[in-house]
Amino acid sequence: MKKNQNKSNTMWGGRFETTPDLIMQQINASIGVDQRMWKQDIEGSKAHCKMLVKQNIITDSDGKAILDGLDQIEKEIESGTFEFTAELEDIHMNVESRLKDIVGDAAGRLHTARSRNDQVATDFRLWVRDAINILIHKIENLQQTLATLSKEHDTSIMPGFTHLQAAQPITLGRHLDAYYQMLSRDKSRFEDCATRVNECPLGAAALAGTPFPIDRAYTAEQLGFDRPMPNTLDAVSARDFANEFLFCAAQCGLHLSRLAEEIIIWATPQFGFIRLSDQWSTGSSIMPQKKNPDAAELIRGKTGRLSGNLVQMLTVMKALPLAYNKDMQEDKESTFDSFDTLILGLEAMNGMLATATFNKDIMLEAAEDGFTTATALADWLVIHLNMPFRNAHHVTGRIVKMAEDKGCKLHELELSEMQSVEAAITDKIYKVLRVQT
Ligand code: ARG
Repeated sequence: MKKNQNKSNTMWGGRFETTPDLIMQQINASIGVDQRMWKQDIEGSKAHCKMLVKQNIITDSDGKAILDGLDQIEKEIESGTFEFTAELEDIHMNVESRLKDIVGDAAGRLHTARSRNDQVATDFRLWVRDAINILIHKIENLQQTLATLSKEHDTSIMPGFTHLQAAQPITLGRHLDAYYQMLSRDKSRFEDCATRVNECPLGAAALAGTPFPIDRAYTAEQLGFDRPMPNTLDAVSARDFANEFLFCAAQCGLHLSRLAEEIIIWATPQFGFIRLSDQWSTGSSIMPQKKNPDAAELIRGKTGRLSGNLVQMLTVMKALPLAYNKDMQEDKESTFDSFDTLILGLEAMNGMLATATFNKDIMLEAAEDGFTTATALADWLVIHLNMPFRNAHHVTGRIVKMAEDKGCKLHELELSEMQSVEAAITDKIYKVLRVQT
């Protein structure tokens, strides 16, 4: 980043005699983070400029100069020739300062009827709106992969677990579909969040609005917002849209983390349900036999960031008086990080699952261990012998104990052995004792 001491005060330095202390500049500057919103900043400025011209607040020729200058800045940033400077604090002042270099005095008219407070709130909302659209697309990609795998494995039997103890036989298809359902809710949470993100703060200026005859509906429409925000103080100081976004990201990451945890367990040699492709696993530098599920572990591990970012923002906002406070500048780093982290998690999970293979024989064998058909046996007693379920549960428990003592599976017991517990049992019971009929 370029250091340019002379530019320090060009935006707000009228009443100041010296440039800020270097540490002051350091704590104050956000350009290292918010330059990422440059596209949204320029888009917002263009809409504001067009509105100023339409309302005869600035002239056509100043408006045209500003729009052309903003076009040029866009190209400079895109091509990497734009020099961001920390002395100009943030993206808003970096862009405006460059605009002045390019178009001269007309640039000074762009900030009429606007403050950085409504400007930053607008840019950030535009950024979060774009981020939500990208995330929803990535969620859908992962759902597609899960749907394909669920279909492929709709008859692949595996043990279902409670307490991580084999509980009842299920299919892998149904297990994976559970994650599909979670992701559907994550997607709908993001969509719902977008409705509250999509309101326009522009026109609120610093906090109290502006005496210029602006047209807030026009600016909002230009930027694709649903409406201008009705209260100017709220418009510049609301960050619940960001908190909500952070929660949506944390919740989606939490779902990925649960799936990652299962993949890690299933990939152990002790389970052996899943085999990850070489592309999506790593080796050990000392133990040549190792194949580690690092991507899954990192998806699980990075969930800490997602919940941490949410807590950070809730804490920043918790006691802020109205309206804008500089604390709020801390809103972007965590939001950008949650976006990056979740995108990576969704993509890694997608790649890992799409290239993994499941060992159906091992899953079936595991489903037959641990007496997973015991509930089916109890249900049989209820249905065929009209036994109260509590009694059936007790009888089944005794039969399970018998198999356990014998070291065999339920279907390997003799009929006479089961009849010694409950005389009315017939050989039809064997139909429910095997996981696969
Ligand atoms: N960089 C600031 C932020 O991100 C922009 C708004 C500054 N407003 C102010 N009154 N100093 O919050």
